[in-house]
Amino acid sequence: MIDLRSDTVTRPTPAMREAMASAEVGDDVYGDDPTVNALERRTAELLGKEDAVFVPTGSMSNQIALRSHTEPGDLVLIEARAHVVLNEGGAGAALSGVTMRTITGERGLFGPDDVSDRIDRLHPFNPTTLGSPPTLLCVENSHNAGGGSVWPLDRLGAVCAAGREHGLALHLDGARLWHACAASGVEPIAYAASFDTVSVCFSKGLGAPMGSALAGPAGVIRRARRFKQQFGGGMRQAGIVAAGALHALDHHRGDLACDVEHARRLAAGLARLDGVRLDAATVESNIVRFEVAGDAGAFATACHERGVHVLPNGRHGVRAVLHRDVSGGQVEAALEIFASVLEELAAASPP
Ligand SMILES: Cc1ncc(COP(=O)(O)O)c(C=O)c1O
Repeated sequence: MIDLRSDTVTRPTPAMREAMASAEVGDDVYGDDPTVNALERRTAELLGKEDAVFVPTGSMSNQIALRSHTEPGDLVLIEARAHVVLNEGGAGAALSGVTMRTITGERGLFGPDDVSDRIDRLHPFNPTTLGSPPTLLCVENSHNAGGGSVWPLDRLGAVCAAGREHGLALHLDGARLWHACAASGVEPIAYAASFDTVSVCFSKGLGAPMGSALAGPAGVIRRARRFKQQFGGGMRQAGIVAAGALHALDHHRGDLACDVEHARRLAAGLARLDGVRLDAATVESNIVRFEVAGDAGAFATACHERGVHVLPNGRHGVRAVLHRDVSGGQVEAALEIFASVLEELAAASPP
């Protein structure tokens, strides 16, 4: 099976398993797991922040960031199709009691005016107590639902400056920041610089079995550690999994450019097929989102029967994600299977 559902499906390599098996461990709730501590220091350093906290998932990392930056009733500005909005089970409302005011971006990206336009203009005639206080702006890079779109650094800087102007704290959901860096050539520290907190995942393109981290100023991370415990994220001999993440940082980051190259090759091939709608130029990192003429579910089922696993998304949308367990040969094989499935489905239901 060529598994293109997500970059989370990667399996740990023998070398990663070896690093995990031999990891030095302690009890992370007591703060004395040396491997977790090393991973937190390393992540903070890579992102140019004072501290970082290791957590089981990217969702928890985002949610402790939301909780740390806000109080119940606060307003969070965020893109409409951000993972925090669509795919974290309503946790912002459930766990932090925040309201989201969304910005509809283009492939997930937006501009500084979109931020300013979402902030209520107050006149002395208006009571200041009516609205929810805007306290946080969240940005996602790369943007998953936007098709793996990568923020140009200057545009990101302008958006963050607009947020600062309005007194907002700034959080970056960088679940796939490593791929955004591989695609753009921008260093993680440069993308992180404009933000207070940055969440990164080790369990996606980097290929570790689990784990994410939230990096930021020491005071915010101290508060985040409290919410990590409150949300049930306190782990014990977590060094075993942290060792997988450290191994991935040391050995897998350099491989991510290959996924980007594969995604662009897959996109170029798909764009040439009858019955596919895709502008290959919009594929910037390791996610390929395209539309098929017929039913996306039928397309995904037929592809699966022939050995390619993709995810249908809505009526016509399909997502394919490239990762370290997919070879160049498998990209070509997947394209052949896509072409034959499209032909077969078109023949079964002529226009
Ligand atoms: C952009 C983004 N943020 C956060 C997450 C959440 O990560 P996790 O699945 O580890 O909770 C994901 C997962 O795919 C994601 O794509």
